[in-house]
Amino acid sequence: MSACIINGKEVAETVIAAVLEATTLLKRRTGIRPGLAVVVVGDDAASHAYVKAKGTMAKRCGFHSSQFTLHEQTTQDDLEVLVNELAADPAVHGILVQLPLPKHLHTEGIVRRIPPEKDVDGLHVVNAGKIATGDLSTGLIPCTPAGAMLLVRRRHGDDLSGLNAVIIGRSNLFGKPMGLLLLAANATVTIAHSRTKDLKALCRNSDILVVAVGRPEMVKADWIRPGATVIDVGINRVPAMGEGNGPTCLVGDVDYSAASKVAGAITPVPGGVGPMTIAMLMNNTLIAARRTVCG
Ligand code: GUN
Repeated sequence: MSACIINGKEVAETVIAAVLEATTLLKRRTGIRPGLAVVVVGDDAASHAYVKAKGTMAKRCGFHSSQFTLHEQTTQDDLEVLVNELAADPAVHGILVQLPLPKHLHTEGIVRRIPPEKDVDGLHVVNAGKIATGDLSTGLIPCTPAGAMLLVRRRHGDDLSGLNAVIIGRSNLFGKPMGLLLLAANATVTIAHSRTKDLKALCRNSDILVVAVGRPEMVKADWIRPGATVIDVGINRVPAMGEGNGPTCLVGDVDYSAASKVAGAITPVPGGVGPMTIAMLMNNTLIAARRTVCG
């Protein structure tokens, strides 16, 4: 048996097409052009690659896109001043501070300064609280779990009643909101993490396995229940030949080639969840801009 490959790139394109159309309409009717400001601190190559991709896609969607690149030694005060300015700027509808921040900076203190209505990452306690209480319509939902949920829905529909879902990873940006979104869709949800006992047995009991640990190919084929849906959120750069200095390639947190012989459906890396994150960021920015006129 070979798993159905869930093509995130294709699904993301349908989201982008809808965002483009709605943006054109919004501009025509109100003159408003969605604005996305992305802040990146330091010179982590992966963060810069993600931020560049976000800016490129924002322009493709017809948004006003701005990028603020701050040096590694930026102080908490300097970053807070910038976020305050963006918060006050009416042309900016969405603010995203790329994570992780350098260790000397306090992420929570920065996120708190982003007004919830501009928090396109869905990280502010107001947005996190809305998801936690089952309000999925008036706040902003974090982009990667929102995108991963769209992929789950394509496979299983809107109602996940009777299905066991296991998420490995408990971050505020992904694991926790993903658990809440699956729960809202009636799945029976377990959030596993580095202290979980007998992870393999837990995974083998899941109909939907979502992996977000950041460890290349950690989840093996014999962790997967035959026929299960596997959503791989990891993006890890590794040596292509298993050696140090040569060419590199991207792999997920799941051993894809072996797992795809067991799973019923699986997301590839690259081309699975990654493109969905960017598409949902565009969607959140559009929603934020639209709410400034329509409430
Ligand atoms: N770093 C990795 N993924 C994300 C994301 O979705 N948002 C932010 N702000 N930082 C990230």
